[in-house]
Amino acid sequence: MIRVYFLAAILGASVFAAVSGEEVFKQRCAGCHEANNPRIPRVEALHRIPAARILQTLNWGVMGNVAYTMTIAEREAVAGYLGTHDPLVAPPPTAFCADRAVRFANAGETKAPSQPQWNGWSPSATNARYQSAQNAGLTIDGVQHLKLKWAFAYDGDTTAFAQPTIVDGNLFAGSAGGVIHALDAKTGCIRWTYPAKGPVRSSILAVRRGNSYSLLFGDQLGWFYSLDAVTGKELWKKKVDEHDAARLTGSPVEYEGTVFVPVASWEENRAISADYQCCTFRGGVAALRVRDGALEWRTYTVDVPKQNGKLWGPSGAPVWSAPTIDAARGLLYVTTGDNYSPPATATSDAVIALDLKTGKIAWSRQFSMGDIFSGGCSAQGIECGPDFDFGSSAILVHIGNAQAGNRDLLLAGQKSGVVYALDPARKGEILWQIRIGKGSTNGGIQWGMAADGQNVYAAVSDLARAPVKSNDPANLRTSNLDPNVGGGLFAIRIADGIKMWNAEPEHTCPENRAGCSPAQPAAVTATPGIIFSGSVDGHMRAYSSEDGTILWDFDTAREYSTVNGVKGRGGSIDGPGAVVVGGMVYVNSGYSRQNGTPGNVLLAFGTD
Ligand code: HEC
Repeated sequence: MIRVYFLAAILGASVFAAVSGEEVFKQRCAGCHEANNPRIPRVEALHRIPAARILQTLNWGVMGNVAYTMTIAEREAVAGYLGTHDPLVAPPPTAFCADRAVRFANAGETKAPSQPQWNGWSPSATNARYQSAQNAGLTIDGVQHLKLKWAFAYDGDTTAFAQPTIVDGNLFAGSAGGVIHALDAKTGCIRWTYPAKGPVRSSILAVRRGNSYSLLFGDQLGWFYSLDAVTGKELWKKKVDEHDAARLTGSPVEYEGTVFVPVASWEENRAISADYQCCTFRGGVAALRVRDGALEWRTYTVDVPKQNGKLWGPSGAPVWSAPTIDAARGLLYVTTGDNYSPPATATSDAVIALDLKTGKIAWSRQFSMGDIFSGGCSAQGIECGPDFDFGSSAILVHIGNAQAGNRDLLLAGQKSGVVYALDPARKGEILWQIRIGKGSTNGGIQWGMAADGQNVYAAVSDLARAPVKSNDPANLRTSNLDPNVGGGLFAIRIADGIKMWNAEPEHTCPENRAGCSPAQPAAVTATPGIIFSGSVDGHMRAYSSEDGTILWDFDTAREYSTVNGVKGRGGSIDGPGAVVVGGMVYVNSGYSRQNGTPGNVLLAFGTD
């Protein structure tokens, strides 16, 4: 129950209504933090931490699992009540570059940069996650000689889930702590930082703006930003969705001066509280003008929810992944997740084509009917499941050959474990489908596939876990992962959906690492001859695109001495995939959600 206090009346302050931080502390924190447990910091210690840092801890840090059903107002209130007003600790001077200027090639020109780049979720707006040989700069021989060049650690974070963007030797990445970093891509030294309001896991899209770029990204509180890439200063920011549970996880894409922002939420978790009025969030896409953030159109995937007894609906059908641009057809494709509450809609677990200019729905194709799911299914008395969202983008590919003729296909991988090829010329009619995994709430196919024109490469998650029953309040782990279930990588021929090869999951989980699993939920990356796929076991592996042989295997789950002097630890790989640019490979490691192994590093590998 959220208690609202009218502090204004008591304090005579200009605060109209606020949640009491002290009350939240008593209800949500005191049980652990006032106990005399040597592994839990005492409340006196919390009073010495900056409030901004406590908020980071709650939003996506060590207290993430404790706080994830709390409203944003409750988090802010308890952080403000406990913490100091001190600013966050700045990086040490040694972490900054000697030359802190961010520079771009071809300044003043509008043509594409001359240096190799990886900009946004995928090097192209078709979301193929395919890096050309020229931009990748990595041969099959080279990949076998990759060595760690530098490690950068996100201070205070337990998850590293923001895929970096690299333009002209500048690396831009968000973090769970909400800090955006501009780094030198070669050395990892810092050029500038910018504090966002919430955790940033979307990749950053750089759009040319005179001699600089606009850096576009969303955060986990529903805010969307545009920064100047040279200075790191804010150009504009905008709350894209007023729902308290909104989160911008999928990366933005841009077309002719408009940026398309996918909108998802964590209302599925909020519904765990039996008294929560489930559910009112509506998934969708917002189209904003790059120049100033003005709203061009907004399309929701479900109608306005109505109250029906104790429940509200329809709700959900969030968009978790980067939209896909089909300029030739004037369409934007998005994939959606499940509904949260009845009634089920035809737009959940679907691929939807929207008009690029107006946002009007051109067609929609559903893959799991009646999929209503939330964390509160049993508490709310809803018949639920199977939770088969799409978490990954649709890939637009063009093939031309004797077998299949000359055509476009739209490839979509679902948490159900099935990969589909759709015909974009025929309202998404199914051309072929193939099952590669069992499917589960953590995928099936989770964060992204890759395609090289010949094959589509899909990794299997099928993460399995068992709840932990512990009376020790210092044990924050809610489940152990099954070290023997999940994983695998498949190459499927785009022309006809025939499996070309599959690489069996590797079983490398050491005993006593409760957050280890062979599952491969992270997005896949393709370059000519080489496919990268990371695993919850902490390994990043490069496979031969010919037959799935492992060419390179690096276990990231260890400690690092880092270029910014912060204690670095690798852990599970989940979320984004490897970024390959100019002979370098960038990998995020550490993922505490879903009970994986925590970690906080961005790793850079190179061959020379
Ligand atoms: C189930 C027990 C439990 C509850 C409930 C709990 N905590 Fe914690 N908290 C811990 C433990 C254990 C740690 C130490 C984790 C670690 O360091 O790995 C911790 C660590 C922290 C830290 C990090 C301290 C540091 O030195 O960086 C903060 C901040 C914090 N908790 C705040 C809160 C707040 C605010 C709440 C209530 C909203 C809360 N906790 C509720 C168990 C709990």
